[in-house]
Amino acid sequence: MTDELNVDYSIKIPNNVGLSEDRQVLRALESWHPGYLNWWRDMGPEGFQDSLVYLRTAVSVDPQGWAKFDYVRMPDYRWGVLLAPKEDGRKVNFGEHLGEPAWQDVPGEYRAMLRRLIVIQGDTEPASVEQQRHLGKTAPSLYDMRNLFQVNVEEGRHLWAMVYLLQKYFGRDGREEAEQLLQRRSGDADKPRMLGAFNEATPDWLSFFMFTFFTDRDGKMQLESLAQSGFDPLSRTCRFMLTEEAHHMFVGESGVGRTIERTAQAMREAGVDDPSDIAKTRALGVVDLPTIQKKLNLHYSLTLDLFGSEVSTNSANFFNSGLKGRFRESKLGDDHRLTGGSYPVLKLVDGAITLVDEPALTALNMRLRDDYSQDCAKGVERWNRILEKAGNGFRLQLPHVAFNRSIGQFKDIHADPHGEILSDRQWTKAKDDYLPSPEDGDFIVSLMKSETRPGKFASWIAPPKAGIDNKPGDFEYVKIESS
Ligand SMILES: [Fe+2]
Ligand SMILES: [Fe+2]
Repeated sequence: MTDELNVDYSIKIPNNVGLSEDRQVLRALESWHPGYLNWWRDMGPEGFQDSLVYLRTAVSVDPQGWAKFDYVRMPDYRWGVLLAPKEDGRKVNFGEHLGEPAWQDVPGEYRAMLRRLIVIQGDTEPASVEQQRHLGKTAPSLYDMRNLFQVNVEEGRHLWAMVYLLQKYFGRDGREEAEQLLQRRSGDADKPRMLGAFNEATPDWLSFFMFTFFTDRDGKMQLESLAQSGFDPLSRTCRFMLTEEAHHMFVGESGVGRTIERTAQAMREAGVDDPSDIAKTRALGVVDLPTIQKKLNLHYSLTLDLFGSEVSTNSANFFNSGLKGRFRESKLGDDHRLTGGSYPVLKLVDGAITLVDEPALTALNMRLRDDYSQDCAKGVERWNRILEKAGNGFRLQLPHVAFNRSIGQFKDIHADPHGEILSDRQWTKAKDDYLPSPEDGDFIVSLMKSETRPGKFASWIAPPKAGIDNKPGDFEYVKIESS
């Protein structure tokens, strides 16, 4: 630990923000760093801290070649501060300040709101590392183990990204928030993480893949909106984070895709034609398709809650003040002020799920959630193509947005995945048909056998089409015993 305390941060922390000349921020990061490393050792991947992992490290922000791959022990990963390059003449692109030069400093009147946005985003980053810390031990292959650790170190870097903003632009309260980000713990009764989905357990690899597909995609939507921010340092930070986020969603989409592929293959080989024959499918050592659908239902509905209430004055304020835009705001062809417009919102009206026009400004959460659902639907289509190609008749689908919600319009009702409203009794009876039951969970966990021989894969998942960094199939992505 001691040499980690004495490193020359201005060299050891890869950064393109001139940290070595920014003494005050450098000092703040220096005093935060040991606590971060303690957090990483306590709450990061369990059991593999001394293994050599074939990881990519960001070395520049040039989209063509920002990463270099090499074996690294995770605690030695070079977590850095990297912002997308400054765009000359960038303006505030929406809201009341439309057309003004983008802010290089925090506008005083928006200080509290902006800090809140950054802290909420920041809190999700370490949370997912905590949720996923046990998974290394049951990795279905070294390839998958490496991808898990890659996602984990990058979520760690995203925390650094938010902490840099807090420490550079928010003085003492920024430093206090940075400390708090290391204190909260996912799922902890006393000091939980800030958002619901980040306090759920990630008990198995299918959950991990669903999480990176659905919940990291919420991350993408939030980052896309914050990348539009009139506060330029936040925008630049998020733009670079999005390049990393793309890999996380690849891990999720391909992970679920390979699970489906393997199931369909095993069913075909064994002549199991009926996807609802769960017992026969499970006997093949793969996850049956109805259970995959239930996992999908769970992760999609949990993630929808992250978008907050459909109608929200907070999100209107974030937009009006130029802090948080819409998904790809600068590509949208309207007035970017939304003062007169409306947007259709799905609401509960007299006990019925009804589409109602709401002022566009207060419906921004709904709009971002719709953009998110469309993005998810495309991925689900690609999964269905795998089934189609395998000659399997089963199709996955996104459940209705009223299904299994804890926030917003539908939090007080029960609905089935088609959006039919159910009584409490009907729900209790049918729930296990829609969401993973304890038995489903036990079955999936029973499949989670660690496979650590290079090039080998656990029974329930197909190998990937290509290796990471073009490595061959039997490449040793993690050297587990390497002290
Ligand atoms: Fe992240
Ligand atoms: Fe992510």
